[in-house]
Amino acid sequence: MEIGTDIKRAANYLNDGDVVAIPTETVYGLAASILSEKGIQKIYQLKGRPNNNPLIVHVASIEEISKWVEVWPEKAKILADAFMPGPITLVLPKSNKIPHYVTSGQDTVGIRVPNHPLFVELLKSLPAPLAAPSANPSNATSATQAKHVVSYFKNKDLPYVLDGGACTNGLESTIVGFEKNEVVIYRVGAITIEQIERWVGKVKRATTKKHTLTPGMFTRHYAPKTPLIMTDDLDAYTKQYPEAHVAILYTGKKKKSSNAKITYINLSESDNLEEVGQKLYATLLALDEQSYDALLIQPFPSTDLGITLNDRLTRATAKK
Ligand code: TXA
Ligand code: MG
Repeated sequence: MEIGTDIKRAANYLNDGDVVAIPTETVYGLAASILSEKGIQKIYQLKGRPNNNPLIVHVASIEEISKWVEVWPEKAKILADAFMPGPITLVLPKSNKIPHYVTSGQDTVGIRVPNHPLFVELLKSLPAPLAAPSANPSNATSATQAKHVVSYFKNKDLPYVLDGGACTNGLESTIVGFEKNEVVIYRVGAITIEQIERWVGKVKRATTKKHTLTPGMFTRHYAPKTPLIMTDDLDAYTKQYPEAHVAILYTGKKKKSSNAKITYINLSESDNLEEVGQKLYATLLALDEQSYDALLIQPFPSTDLGITLNDRLTRATAKK
C-alpha cells in the first residue's frame, strides 16, 4: 500500500479498474470508477459490505449531475444550489448510464459533489464518476485521516491512499430523498435539518421500518471496539463501576481528573459542535488503541448538529 498526494497515480489505478482511498470533506472513501464492475465488487469485498447496500456516486460539479440522473425535482435543484459542493447527497431517479451494480439494483442513485480540492481535481481528471462508501470495515467508525484508512486496510489489497489531510467536517453527508413532493431525510449528517428547512420548508425524517434498504439506518453502525456509553448521568456510571478505567468525552471548560481511573477528553472548549464533529471519530479511533473499559459521553442538545452527533452516538452504542 502506498500513501501520497499524487493525483496521477491515483487516477492510473482507478483507470485500471482498481480501488483507491480518497479524502472528502466528510470522511475518507474507498473509490472505484462507476464503469468498473470489478472495482465496485472489490469495494464490497474490502469493506465486508452486504451487496444490497448501494454506493454514493461522486461527481465534480452540479452540472455533471444532470448527465447521471433522469429527473431533477425543483426542491433538489434548490438544495443543490444551496449546498453543493458540500456534504449533502441527493437521492434521485438514476439514468440508465449508471450500472445497476453501483446502486444494488435500485432505480435511484445517491449523488454528491464533494468539497475537497484534491478529490475534486482527481474527479475532473477521470472519464467517469467515482462510487465510494466510507473507508472503514462495514459498521466500524468512519476514517477521517489517511492513517485511519491505513490501519484499517494495511493487510488488504488496497494499492493507494490519496492523503488529503484531516477531513474538515468529520461527519458523513446528509442524505436527502424526494418522495412525491416531500423532502425526506434518509440520514442526518453534516448539513443540519434546520439548514435544509430554511430552503425547502418542513422535511420528513425517514423511519427505519419503511427504509430498511438505507443501511446508514441499520441499528449498529459507526461503532468503536471499546464499549461506548451515552448517558446523562456520568456519576451514576462511575459509581456503579468504581474499578473501571474510563474516558469521559465532554465539551466546555477544561476539567482535570482527581481520580486516576477517569480521563477527561475535551472535544471543544467553546462548545462548538462543528469542532466536535470534526474530532469525534478521530478521538474514538485514538481511544480504541488504548485499553479503556468504557468511553462515556453525554447526549448533545437535540438541535442542529447535535441531532447528527446523537444519531451517530446512538448507533455506535447500539447492541449488535
Ligand atoms: O459523506 C459521505 O456520504 C461519505 C463520503 C465518502 O462521500 N460516504 C458515505 O458512504 O458515507 P456510505 O456508503 O458509508 O453511506 C452511504 C449511505 C448508505 O447508508 C447507503 O445505504 C445510502 O447512503 N445510499 C446510497 N445510495 C442510496 C440510494 N440510492 N437510496 C437510498 N440510500 C442510499
Ligand atoms: Mg459508512
